[in-house]
Amino acid sequence: MKIGVIGAATVGWTLATKLADKGHSVQIANSRGVDSLVPRVADAGVPLQAASLEEALNNDLVLLAVPWTKVREVLGQDVDWDGRIIVDATNIFTSYAPDFQIEDLGNDSGSEIVARLAPTARVVKAFNTLPIEKMFAPLPAKELKRVLFVAGDDARAVQDVMSIVEDVGLAPVAIGSLAVAGRQMELQGPFSGLELFRIGREISS
Ligand SMILES: NC(=O)c1ccc[n+]([C@@H]2O[C@H](COP(=O)([O-])OP(=O)(O)OC[C@H]3O[C@@H](n4cnc5c(N)ncnc54)[C@H](OP(=O)(O)O)[C@@H]3O)[C@@H](O)[C@H]2O)c1
Repeated sequence: MKIGVIGAATVGWTLATKLADKGHSVQIANSRGVDSLVPRVADAGVPLQAASLEEALNNDLVLLAVPWTKVREVLGQDVDWDGRIIVDATNIFTSYAPDFQIEDLGNDSGSEIVARLAPTARVVKAFNTLPIEKMFAPLPAKELKRVLFVAGDDARAVQDVMSIVEDVGLAPVAIGSLAVAGRQMELQGPFSGLELFRIGREISS
């Protein structure tokens, strides 16, 4: 799959390198432009491409891995989404350590805001419920996989995102729509920070 990763910090870099390693065509962009990424990409050891924001936004699947405070700026670009997928990995922090603050969205949610900012995209929420160091921490037993929750309104887009979740070694579990499950995955929701494991690929009844 052709994947654009927006944000080259912990989430963007980790997932971009893992997906490139699995054979996806991955472009990564940050706020400082291509030149700032070229040396790092050259040392990545996987076929990752440094890209401008505009280039990275034009892939089949775009992973949003920027601070919540930058989402409006990124999605304010003139982009024709035309049904392409946005994977929203953001959490609604307005500031990070040592003064973590969360935006009060009232009766709204981050991913629904993302969906409204890109109305012709198919938005799927994923990769936001665990810190990256926990998401890819060593497993307690070799037959286990760590669960990664996924939410979205378009079944095909959810399936496509579940497929890349599997590619990075996690066990995707689709839990519902953006409006319900997406909210439950947000900071302070019941799925935020929840670490579960699955035995094998499927749970048999
Ligand atoms: N850290 C985690 O473990 C974790 C886990 C799950 C979810 N999240 C969420 O995932 C998102 C990313 O988190 P993070 O910790 O990886 O990094 P972050 O500190 O939230 O994001 C920094 C990255 O975003 C880029 N960026 C900022 N504004 C941009 C713009 N206008 N255009 C393009 N790129 C822009 C920065 O570019 P420069 O490099 O040029 O500064 C940098 O690469 C956040 O919303 C966070 O809440 C984080």
